[in-house]
Amino acid sequence: MSTRRVQDAIRDDQKIQNELKRNGNIPTHIAVIMDGNGRWAKKRKLPRIAGHNEGVESVRDTVESCGQLGVKYLTLYAFSTENWKRPKEEVSMLMRLLMRALRDETDRLHKNNVRVHAIGDISSLPQEVQDELLDAIEKTKHNTGLNLLLALSYSGRWDITDAVRRLISNVQQGTVKTENINDHLISEYLSTKNVPDPDLLIRTSGEFRISNFLLWQLAYSEIYISDLFWPDFRRNELYKAIAEYQKRERRFGMVSEQVQTQKSKASYVG
Ligand code: IPE
Ligand code: IPE
Ligand code: MG
Repeated sequence: MSTRRVQDAIRDDQKIQNELKRNGNIPTHIAVIMDGNGRWAKKRKLPRIAGHNEGVESVRDTVESCGQLGVKYLTLYAFSTENWKRPKEEVSMLMRLLMRALRDETDRLHKNNVRVHAIGDISSLPQEVQDELLDAIEKTKHNTGLNLLLALSYSGRWDITDAVRRLISNVQQGTVKTENINDHLISEYLSTKNVPDPDLLIRTSGEFRISNFLLWQLAYSEIYISDLFWPDFRRNELYKAIAEYQKRERRFGMVSEQVQTQKSKASYVG
């Protein structure tokens, strides 16, 4: 691309970002089920790992544009509990790719003020992956921009099971009273403690399922299904998802009139 065309592209991108920001309700937390890497590769007669590789580019662009838009939390479903059941070669290639991506991207993330977190059964990952992950978490821990949560060896059922175990043990020790257990307390035992629930869930590759992602936390998230395979997902599709989200009415069980009244009160106070 010529310098001129690059400059035009940057200006167009900023225009779209400004428009989304002007609408006022940029989601605080976006969660993404990054799906379709294998099918992207298959369509091109390439090995599945080529799709995973290209998927790293999509991660980079999504993280960067979320940061620019002022999204506070981005949770990426990168490897599920069930993904351990894949062929051994694919699992080990994915682990190697993860290690390399963490090694190569941490400096850029740090420069962009991104803070890295991990959720999932991290101790089940190969030691080298854990080391890279801990380095990235440590290096970026004072950053104040986007919080990037990497869901690794993660599943919603794993999260809830782990929470129940620790909660019961605290009840047995007497530090928690059974009658004080409510949904706020349960949220504090989940791996997403202190993170607001996702406002928007994006799943790529046209699949309409949750695949054991943040089961508790997605209770009231708006869902956007993209037909693109993850390696084809870039910021313009993210913008489409956010624009669609901004048109939705989130009622949280109430009726539309109540939501409108709340909104006008909030804008009056604000
Ligand atoms: C998502 O792409 C990446 C992971 C689950 C690790 P897939 O590998 O699931 O790709 P498809 O769904 O088979 O196309
Ligand atoms: C969901 O994708 C998990 C991740 C994106 C990490 P899968 O490809 O594993 O989901 P299913 O098996 O199609 O439901
Ligand atoms: Mg898949």
